[in-house]
Formats: sequence, C-alpha cells, structure tokens
Amino acid sequence: MLGLGVYRPRRVVPNAEIVDRIESSDEWIRTRSGIGARRWAEPDETIVEMSAAAARKALAATGIDTEQVDAVVLATSSQMVLGPAAAAVVATELGMHDTAAFDISAGCAGFCYALASAASLVRAGEARNVLVIGVERLSDLLDPTDRGCAFIFADGAGAVVVGRAESEGIGPVAWGSDGSQTAAIKQDKDFQQYFAEVAAAEASGGTSERPYIRMNGQAVFRWAVTFLEKACRDALDRAGVTVEDLDAFVPHQANSRITDALIRVLEVPDTVAVARDIAEAGNTSAASIPLAMEELLRSGAAQQGDTALLLGFGAGLAYAGQVVRLPSIG
Ligand code: UT7
Repeated sequence: MLGLGVYRPRRVVPNAEIVDRIESSDEWIRTRSGIGARRWAEPDETIVEMSAAAARKALAATGIDTEQVDAVVLATSSQMVLGPAAAAVVATELGMHDTAAFDISAGCAGFCYALASAASLVRAGEARNVLVIGVERLSDLLDPTDRGCAFIFADGAGAVVVGRAESEGIGPVAWGSDGSQTAAIKQDKDFQQYFAEVAAAEASGGTSERPYIRMNGQAVFRWAVTFLEKACRDALDRAGVTVEDLDAFVPHQANSRITDALIRVLEVPDTVAVARDIAEAGNTSAASIPLAMEELLRSGAAQQGDTALLLGFGAGLAYAGQVVRLPSIG
C-alpha cells in the first residue's frame, strides 16, 4: 500500500441526536458499542464524490498519477443502483480513460477483499498500480427507529494505492464466508418484494416501507468473538509473523467490545497500537479499515511502514485478514 486517503462526511451526528427515536441513551450506546458519534453524508456527498475525494488524497500521497493506475476496485454495500459499477464512474471522475474498474460486495469485509484482489493483480503483473476504495452511505439504508442498527452504521470513504514495492507489503489473505448465516445481516427485502408491497398498499390504501438493513447483533457478535480468532491466527501464520511482531491492529470497527475480545484472545501486547476510530466514526462497513488506518497514522499512534494486522468481517458472513505495512497518508 503506497498511499492512503480518506473522506469523512461533514455532518457529525452525536448519540444525542439519535437516542430519542430508539429509546436509548448516550451511555448505553457508548458502553455497548464504543460509539460516541458518527458521520452521515449529506446529499452531495455521494458514493462517487466521497470515493473520488479519498482517491485523490491517496494518489497525492504517492506521487503516482492516474495514467499509471491500471485498475480501480471499489468495495461497497450501499450503492443504490445495481449498475454501472461505482468504480467505473469514479475512474472517469478522476480523469482516467479506459481503465479496468469493478465493484466488490463483501459487506464489512469488502475493503480487505478488494485489497487482496489488488495485491494479486499487481503480483501477477496484470496491473502496475491499483486504486482500492472502501466506501459507504449506510445512512441511506437505516430505519431511524431500528434499535439494533440506527446508532451503529455510518458513512465515509477510504482509498489506497496498491503498487510494486521493494519488499512484500501485503501478506497472504486469510478469508472465507458463510452464506448459511445470511439472516444475521441483510437488506430486509429486495426490489421485487418492495414493488409488490407498494402495489398492495396502493390497492388497499395502506402503507409500505422501503428496504432497510437489518442485523441480528447478538448472532454477529457471537460469531465475531468466537470464529475470528482463527482468521487472525491464519493471517499471521501465512505472513510468517506473530502478534509480538505487530506494531498495529486494525480490526473492522464494528463494536469496541469485539475489538477488546479479540485483543484478549489473541494476547495482543500492550505495545501494539489498536484502532479505535469507531468512537468518532461509527461502523462504516467497507470504509472502516482505511478510515481507522488513517486515524492511527494521523494521530501518530502508528507510523508509515509499521506492521499491522487488518481484519474485515460482516455480512455474508464474510471475513478477510492480512498482515500489511502501513502506507503514507495524503
Ligand atoms: O459491521 C458488521 C458487523 N456487525 C457487528 O459486528 C455488530 C455486532 N453486534 C453488536 O455490536 C451488538 O450486538 C449491538 C451493539 C448491536 C447490540 O448490543 P448487545 O449487547 O448485543 O445488545 P442486545 O441486543 O443483547 O440487547 C441487550 C439489552 C436488551 O435489553 P434486556 O433484554 O437486557 O432488558 C435490549 O432490549 O439492551 C437492549 N437494547 C437497547 N437498549 C438501548 C437493545 N438495543 C438497544 C438500544 N438502546 N439501541
């Protein structure tokens, strides 16, 4: 990863703005999830605009120009159109011409899936440099009265440029998925169900609700704190390092109690900087890992070149982890 850039939406939404509609409290949200505030995008802060802004910063951090980028890989679960791929529109927005571009849908594991794919493209000689983007506008999918989701999910974008380096900077990925657990996090209805409901409501004079994201928080939490230890250990083993060799740990910012549980079970030493961006950013799904890396680097808790374990996990139930060297920030 040669350079990193992020885009954080302008509007900061503190817990106080959310609690009334879900009969909650600032204290409950902070204690149970670690979230103090999140950012929700305004209408002009689209998936494409946020991605392009993050990508420009990532490119600026490397000195690589768009002509030298051979592919754009964009991870998201909240692009509200089925086509074209957001990556293609972002590439054009950045002034690229005839560049390979595609989206990846792997929930909150999306950034790490995209990173693994980009690293393989570069290693195989299929691309000189690949722009990897994780971006979400999950506020578009939130039922503001859903107690399990309304306070968690948030918006933002992060991008890295993946390219050749003297030494290995992205370790082998440990990844997988379990489609039998689809119900744990999902959009609650598809377009056809929604249109059928709208038609029925029109006929009966009733109402219909648009699709929303739904989560069985306890099921995901249980899976995360039991299954993901193995994913972390596999990623470390495949890179030939141990937790003692780490400078930083950057898990998906799902819940600070999940992060705490992973630190405990992996026996991560106190000297390792642990990403806690969730406190200010909420859970931004595919964007959370680049945003969290940026926070660690910007605050000085970690440095460019540090060895970090990344771990994305969520809907699917998909996960991906890899040991990396941290990039410079733009
Ligand atoms: O990014 C994708 C991956 N996502 C995740 O990894 C999320 C994983 N799950 C979680 O982070 C947690 O499950 C949540 C933060 C979503 C919920 O925390 P929890 O500790 O699992 O809460 P719970 O559902 O077990 O509910 C505990 C209590 C219940 O009350 P009783 O039955 O103990 O009296 C709930 O009714 O908390 C109550 N509760 C709430 N109270 C205030 C549930 N939601 C809320 C709320 N505010 N928003």
